[in-house]
Amino acid sequence: MPKERTVETVIDHIDRNRDRYVRELIELVKIPSISSSSKHRLDVRRCAEYLQHELERIGVRKTRLFETDGHPVVYAEWTENAGAPTVLIYGHYDVQPVDPLDQWVTPPFEPDVRNGRLYGRGSVDDKGQVFAHLKAVEAWLQQTGTLPLNLKFLFEGEEEIGSANLDGFLRDNAALVRSDCVVVSDTPMLARGLPSICYGLRGLAYLQVDVRACASDLHSGSFGGVIGNPLHALVHILDQLKDQSGRIRVPGFYDKVLPLESDERAALAALPFVEQQVLTDTGAQALLGEEGYTTLERLWARPTLDLNGIWGGFIEEGAKTVIPATAHAKLSMRLVPEQDPAVISTAAASYLRSLAPAWATVDVQVLHGGQSWYDPHTDPTFDLAAAALCKGFGVERIAYIREGGSIPFVRTIADATHRPCLLIGFGLPDECAHAPNEWLDLDNYHKGIRSSAYLYDELSQLPTLG
Ligand code: BES
Ligand code: ZN
Repeated sequence: MPKERTVETVIDHIDRNRDRYVRELIELVKIPSISSSSKHRLDVRRCAEYLQHELERIGVRKTRLFETDGHPVVYAEWTENAGAPTVLIYGHYDVQPVDPLDQWVTPPFEPDVRNGRLYGRGSVDDKGQVFAHLKAVEAWLQQTGTLPLNLKFLFEGEEEIGSANLDGFLRDNAALVRSDCVVVSDTPMLARGLPSICYGLRGLAYLQVDVRACASDLHSGSFGGVIGNPLHALVHILDQLKDQSGRIRVPGFYDKVLPLESDERAALAALPFVEQQVLTDTGAQALLGEEGYTTLERLWARPTLDLNGIWGGFIEEGAKTVIPATAHAKLSMRLVPEQDPAVISTAAASYLRSLAPAWATVDVQVLHGGQSWYDPHTDPTFDLAAAALCKGFGVERIAYIREGGSIPFVRTIADATHRPCLLIGFGLPDECAHAPNEWLDLDNYHKGIRSSAYLYDELSQLPTLG
């Protein structure tokens, strides 16, 4: 059978099985694989085992669960095409916590289809995108009995908590993950109908600040005015993190930040990005940010600092007159090339400690971090991925984008293999990832399966490492 004809029969098969693919994804989304919660440790493992079993069921028979100090890594390979290129597909099967639970229209782990959307925690981030690949592989194997290349699969259970055990895994198993190219589907497209290839991610440094002023909570009448209040110290410290214009005051914070080149600025400015859409999608009243940069530049190529949570003292119903003993905050910094998360965390921690008043102690813990990633996307492999996306989505062009989120794996594998990483995500910016009522657009899920099937065919042309 001529080559084009073979792909088209696989695509026909995918089109005929559209509804079944949704039913099967629902089973995966039902598993509450919340990696940050010790209560869900066994659910996370069950999810890993489910994926391992699915891989075997669709004909990828060499599979293995690797234990780590945290959640297991699912590894599998179909490498029966001697001489053909090998592609490593990465995704994550862990999901974010579901709070605030009362804001979900239907429960997060009882996936529900409404208006062409699949609602459920993990539907887009990242189970739907992982499953798009499994379904494309299944279609190739069911329809042709083979694949046009060799595939390796690496599904992680700790992406949402900083991938702390992944670097060690990759170091110990360097030969296993050796490949000619890496594919990651864990990012949104720029907009509906505009499939996108992401060539840059921000990094992350995440800290917790704990302020203590006295041994135990105190009566605010008996001690107010003579004993320092840690909540006030915390508020004062946090207020020193940025100046009036929003510039981050951590010493050395901007030292290594690479400036945006003018041709990249022009490319970003030419993207069909509608600022108003961000307001509509988020319900925010106005956009803000660093002066001298466009919204996309601020989101994708400039570092930021955000408080994620502040707590301490009395927050229940009614009033209680108390000076709390401690106050706490969690904060994260999104980083850009070439800021190093370890260097930035250390600088931020010492700056925070230096702001402590004499009457309080400030402890800073580094919770996790991840490196940023950037690829100039000049390697011809990107053109192959673009062609696959155009065919899969039935469009003439794609967008090259960066993203503000982080996927620590990408920089690690890019540095280790020096091979291109193709970030072809099938999500949309407004699918409520990490928030209540996360959803996956089922049309994009279907087109993601089609695109993956085309992608394997396109990538079969890759030169091999030998
Ligand atoms: N899918 C996201 C990464 C992402 C988010 C890409 C937004 C593009 C836009 C991923 O699951 C994620 O949430 N990553 C974490 C990583 C962190 C815990 C190290 C993130 O970005 O917060
Ligand atoms: Zn996520």
